[in-house]
Amino acid sequence: MKNVGFIGWRGMVGSVLIKRMLKKKDFNNINAIFFSTSQYGESVPDLNIKNKNQKLENAYNFEKLFELDIIVTCQGSEYTNEVYFKLRKIGWNGYWIDAASNLRTSDNAVIVLDPINLKNIQEKLNMGVKTFVGGNCTVSLMLMALGGLFENNLIDWISVSTYQAASGAGAKFIKELILQIKYISNIIPNLINDKSNNILNIEKKITENMNSSNFPKKNFHTSLINNLIPWIDKKINNSGQTKEEWKGQYETNKILNKTKKIPIDGICVRIATLRSHSQSFTIKLNQNLSIDNIHYIINSHNKWVKVIPNDFNDTINFLTPSFVSRKLDVVVGRIKKLNIDKNCFSIFSVGDQLLWGASEPLRRMLKLLI
Ligand SMILES: NC(=O)c1ccc[n+]([C@@H]2O[C@H](COP(=O)([O-])OP(=O)(O)OC[C@H]3O[C@@H](n4cnc5c(N)ncnc54)[C@H](OP(=O)(O)O)[C@@H]3O)[C@@H](O)[C@H]2O)c1
Repeated sequence: MKNVGFIGWRGMVGSVLIKRMLKKKDFNNINAIFFSTSQYGESVPDLNIKNKNQKLENAYNFEKLFELDIIVTCQGSEYTNEVYFKLRKIGWNGYWIDAASNLRTSDNAVIVLDPINLKNIQEKLNMGVKTFVGGNCTVSLMLMALGGLFENNLIDWISVSTYQAASGAGAKFIKELILQIKYISNIIPNLINDKSNNILNIEKKITENMNSSNFPKKNFHTSLINNLIPWIDKKINNSGQTKEEWKGQYETNKILNKTKKIPIDGICVRIATLRSHSQSFTIKLNQNLSIDNIHYIINSHNKWVKVIPNDFNDTINFLTPSFVSRKLDVVVGRIKKLNIDKNCFSIFSVGDQLLWGASEPLRRMLKLLI
């Protein structure tokens, strides 16, 4: 059995990965070794698998890492930068499966999303490629949602606005959003019980509290509650784009691996949801397809994508982060032709960014290897 090391398994992506692997009984086929950057020496939590009484290994112990056949890391870019290159340099020739973004641009790495690029993954495996990286969460969710349109070469360009959950930034950020909710909810009972307070006074008091010096905002640098942040990741020089926006076109085209590149751009926005990312697309097709045809092409691409009828009740019940969270379904709705151009239509999509947007492609890559 292969020795598989897990790093970053207690973070947002890692813990969802472990939960899915337990559900699918993936641990039966591997010898799992758990690492930590901060808690090594402590006991591995009891997962009811073969690793009882194991202690967490130090994630920077190169001798231990060297013994592994496969490393699965959901620890983040800093860890990858510090460990990956050194490990390869000292001759480690195992498989590296990573959730972080920094190796995605490498010619020696494949971005994995097997319902879209299984053939390419298999070709690269046969060629001896040993580095496999999960894609950006909104990119993977977009490809799962619109896979049929990409596969049939129907898309001219895409403009997108994202609505990304706090957990997309990691455990510290979702915790901070919850602390912000708590901070505001502590002041609400007094305000709302005071009958003399009119609603605009209450709104004003809440806004004042969001701006107070005690308000928890170490990570977001501002309030996310009662607010949104139309900026994700760092600025890309001179283009006006953020890195998250840049990834949309680069990673999509790398995964599709076609000669004709599809232009994709837009604005990525952080919103105060806890889990699951939404995206609003304007898509220009290279032909005038009927709405029924578009539904059919999208729906028949993979078993996880679900078209939601374009009406109020279906939309509020099924086209939302709260419906989709913890499910593998990627829902698409609000599909309509736009007045702008006969080949343009709108589509809104929601998917759990911790499942198809992060951990599921990694889990399936690991399964391919074992
Ligand atoms: N979050 C997403 O939706 C998402 C989607 C796609 C890709 N990614 C990428 O995946 C990588 C991991 O992201 P992530 O969101 O999983 O990061 P995360 O939640 O911040 O976890 C990363 C590591 O932070 C440490 N940590 C510190 N405080 C923690 C706490 N309170 N709870 C849990 N862990 C804590 C843990 O390492 P130790 O146990 O070693 O201390 C953990 O493994 C990143 O490169 C990210 O860009 C994330």
